[in-house]
Amino acid sequence: MALTDLKTVLDMAEQTKTAIPAFNIDSIPATEGLMEAAEAAECPVILAIGQAAIKEGRMAYLADLARRVAESSRVPVVLHLDHSSSYEQIVRAIGLGFSSVMYDGSHGAFEDNLRESKNVVRTAHAAGVSVECELGAILGVEDGMKHERPNLVDLNEVRAFIAEVDCDALAVGIGNAHGIYKSTPNLDFDRLQACRDMGAPHLVLHGGSGIPEDMLRRAITIGIRKINVATELRLAYLEGLRSAITSDDFYAVLRAARESVRATAADKIRIFQGR
Ligand code: 13P
Repeated sequence: MALTDLKTVLDMAEQTKTAIPAFNIDSIPATEGLMEAAEAAECPVILAIGQAAIKEGRMAYLADLARRVAESSRVPVVLHLDHSSSYEQIVRAIGLGFSSVMYDGSHGAFEDNLRESKNVVRTAHAAGVSVECELGAILGVEDGMKHERPNLVDLNEVRAFIAEVDCDALAVGIGNAHGIYKSTPNLDFDRLQACRDMGAPHLVLHGGSGIPEDMLRRAITIGIRKINVATELRLAYLEGLRSAITSDDFYAVLRAARESVRATAADKIRIFQGR
């Protein structure tokens, strides 16, 4: 199947009141593991390429991998650029065949975010590529970038933003954070509900690793349609490697990593599908 754009799979999730997983990809075994989980559950999947992978010089290589995976996949696959704050990088991603891009201007002034988001939407939509934007910078370490500001999204900014920016998905800060939470996250569901009630585009929850199952389910009930998970998959990969590292069978070690990622992804998909 050819790559699918983000809007199409999030429209599908809206119909079924579920959320689509956005899994960050870094390597072949991990990508194979999470594709196995998605196909077994017949769930569309978003393969996200983040800034850490790009800094490692893997943007084109991982994009090729995702396109190849999509061609033979039985489920819709979106190739998504995660957390880009560079117009040039977004143009490059479109050239590499990404079907979705995220412009993240949430760390700067609201007016700049609004203007640049509009600019990205114009360029991406002209190429048939979906756009995710962000309001209320997400706390924690996000692929190497650290945000220190409080991240509860300002509802007046949401209102003003969605009146002007025709993006396909909107990530909002509601107390979520990237990486591993030091204590149980305190998500502001009333704020999320308010975003939904004002008719925001498909809502996105970043920092999906470590959010308790009941909170994920509640967020989906309110209207979250895309949930990003990176850290838990990376930890699962390492756990798989460690469990088999004493073996001299190289491919057995890689298979253990792949299986560990598959199991973690399958568990997230089960929750996101409301099962
Ligand atoms: P986690 O690493 O906390 O799962 O967050 C992933 C994410 O939101 C990527 O954009």
